[in-house]
Amino acid sequence: MKKYTSISDIASLSSIIDEAIHLKKNPYDFQSLGKNKTIAMLFFNPSLRTRLSTQKAALNLGMQVMIMNISNDGWTLEFEDGTIMKNSAAEHVKEAAQVVSQYCDILAIRTFAGLVDREEDYNEKVMNAFVKYATVPIVSLESAIGHPLQALTDAITIKEHQKIAKPKVVLSWAPHPKALPQAVANSFVNVMKLSEVDFVITHPYGYELSSEITNGITIEYNQDKAFENANFIYTKNWSAFTDYGKVLTIDSNWMITEKKMQLTNNAKFMHCLPVRRNVIVEDAVIDSENSLVIEQSNNRTFAAQIVLKKILETINPLLERVIS
Ligand code: CP
Repeated sequence: MKKYTSISDIASLSSIIDEAIHLKKNPYDFQSLGKNKTIAMLFFNPSLRTRLSTQKAALNLGMQVMIMNISNDGWTLEFEDGTIMKNSAAEHVKEAAQVVSQYCDILAIRTFAGLVDREEDYNEKVMNAFVKYATVPIVSLESAIGHPLQALTDAITIKEHQKIAKPKVVLSWAPHPKALPQAVANSFVNVMKLSEVDFVITHPYGYELSSEITNGITIEYNQDKAFENANFIYTKNWSAFTDYGKVLTIDSNWMITEKKMQLTNNAKFMHCLPVRRNVIVEDAVIDSENSLVIEQSNNRTFAAQIVLKKILETINPLLERVIS
């Protein structure tokens, strides 16, 4: 693997899931793979799980880790080519990406959508600038339109808990007072498209995701109907794609409640976290024995670890042969 900025960077989803589950049982099997290798993680936005689970994954592989909250501690970056830099930006990403690349072997970036300019977000302005100018492999720790490490985690978690060959998985929008990116939902749709599942998306009118992403997927506007016979309920809020970045409704009837979960086939409840209790999901659901949210967070480590392992093997194929 030469980079990981999208689910499409995975050669075989089923194989990588099996390898991640193996790593979960044997987390220190490849401690020498990361010897004398460094990952640098640059955060333009906050994180709890992504930061610590990716750090843990790198440490499990024997890597060194450098972390910088670049928005707070770095120079403001310019991303446009040919700009006269007389405003707030003090450094161009062209230099910054090449400079940081000299200090590390893998560069991981977190950057959220601005939710103002859809074209800018969907062109992945920040992530693609690092892909273009860095001289080391790039890993997405969530970008403007995708969260591929979260999506791999979710696919691993579903694989571990599915009891039938083709479970029904429902991605349900839920209300939130603030405008949130579509990244988690987009990547979840992309990973479900590659999975053996009966997949349905449910949301209020106006919350349609990009049709390029949901092409071919069933969209059911009646949440109760969507929940019937579901084996997994994956919940996430996102802001509107068409009326870009807008909060169109915070209708609490879309919150995930115990009563709604009773419509399902004893479904497992999933959410990437962080989650607003009793806004997105009732306490009774997130605290129930069917809630997978804490285990999902644990699986973030092994999704990151298998991705870093595959990149390290690409950086150093000779070492891989020696170890195996
Ligand atoms: N799920 C997730 O990405 O969590 P953080 O924002 O805390 O990293």
